[in-house]
Amino acid sequence: MTITFIGHGYVGLVTAAVFADLGNTVYVIGHTKEKIESLKRGIVPIYEPGLEELVKKNVKAKRLIFTLDYSPSISKSDIVFIAVGTPTAKTGDADLSTVLEVAEKIGQNLKGYTVVATKSTVPAGTNKRIKRILEESKPQGAEVDYASVPEFLREGSAISDTTKPDRIVIGTESKRAKDLLIKLHKPINAPLVLTNFETAELIKYAANAFLALKISYANAIAKLSELLGADALRVLEGIGMDKRIGNMFLSPGPGYGGSCFPKDVRALISIAKDNDYPFSLLEEVENINHQSRRDIVRKARKTLGDMRNKKIGILGLAFKANTDDMRDAPAIDIINLLQNDGAKISAFDPKAMDTAAAVLKDIDYKKEAYEVAEGADLIIVLTEWNEFRELDFSIIKNKMKSPNIIDGRNLYDSKEMTKLGFTYQGVGR
Ligand code: UDX
Repeated sequence: MTITFIGHGYVGLVTAAVFADLGNTVYVIGHTKEKIESLKRGIVPIYEPGLEELVKKNVKAKRLIFTLDYSPSISKSDIVFIAVGTPTAKTGDADLSTVLEVAEKIGQNLKGYTVVATKSTVPAGTNKRIKRILEESKPQGAEVDYASVPEFLREGSAISDTTKPDRIVIGTESKRAKDLLIKLHKPINAPLVLTNFETAELIKYAANAFLALKISYANAIAKLSELLGADALRVLEGIGMDKRIGNMFLSPGPGYGGSCFPKDVRALISIAKDNDYPFSLLEEVENINHQSRRDIVRKARKTLGDMRNKKIGILGLAFKANTDDMRDAPAIDIINLLQNDGAKISAFDPKAMDTAAAVLKDIDYKKEAYEVAEGADLIIVLTEWNEFRELDFSIIKNKMKSPNIIDGRNLYDSKEMTKLGFTYQGVGR
């Protein structure tokens, strides 16, 4: 099949590369010349394990073609996916301007029969607007059907999430579109949820908001555990063994970040409000998430007292491990608060230093983890990189001015840390 992706962010690029690898001819349309030129050479602008190899392999095999032009790729395609960003607008709603703009350009270039499908997370009802734009802008004789095929991939494990998803959701009112999309997804062996537009769109928001809710719940239990002297990790392990609850997305920490959860929780609150339903449960999910970030700062203040000119070393900046993405990373809020208190910050992250430098100023970025310990009054771990688990803490202790550690991801054994002479604080322990 010939397919086109508009957008080469995490969703667009990963899904395009996977479909190319499955033997389809895949065009990827971008709008920045330099990025498209780099992608043509197989240089990937984001860090995602395995992605660069997959892109290079399929560019070489001429199955993955990067371009700035909507023509001729759209007219040649059986299916066109919209995978552009939907950031949060000032109102809290998703900003749909790019999605609607590309819909018009797609419409103008349609030829023969084409299925246009959105991968971008858009609020219920948007797809009807896109459908109308396509119908109004398409040339005479072109036929178009419309579908919502939301994406559930996680950064850091995006390729395996795409090749081995828990389910594939296809929302469309057209049988022809449904059949074509089923055919495209056939080599990916996953249960299908076949439904209408609105349901498909809401499945995506409802899934992300529910996972965010689990994390905020874990963080609330962690807070309570600290107050009661319980061990949150055992409590959460204990509840996760109940199959009805499940053990995933129950790790307490500095709160959820990234390009999806914060944005999608806000958008769902806003969608509900627009429909006269105050989704106060999700407002509390957001509140707890902010508290979880502030709680790390509260622990730092309690440990150091006056924060002015205290040296704090940060291990991990990305919103989670195995990515260089800093969007809505807890590290941003936490470091800003520490800097407001007058603390001097040094930091190391294995992949996210360049992306962090664009959003976090006045930081002494270090070349390796051990360097952040140099003369530090406190170390705070904010991302669960595997290499941080392997660190030799006797070396770290010798480099520090005072051996204080706040382990925002519960990576270390509190007893061992205390034995080494650290004042150790985890989350919920
Ligand atoms: C998420 C969804 O998982 C994915 O299905 C959707 O398509 C996009 O959004 P992603 O943002 O890449 O994926 O990361 P995810 O692994 O879900 O983590 C999101 C945030 O939650 C991170 O900040 C992570 O550190 C945090 N988290 C996750 C926790 O704090 N505790 C957990 O137990 C799990």
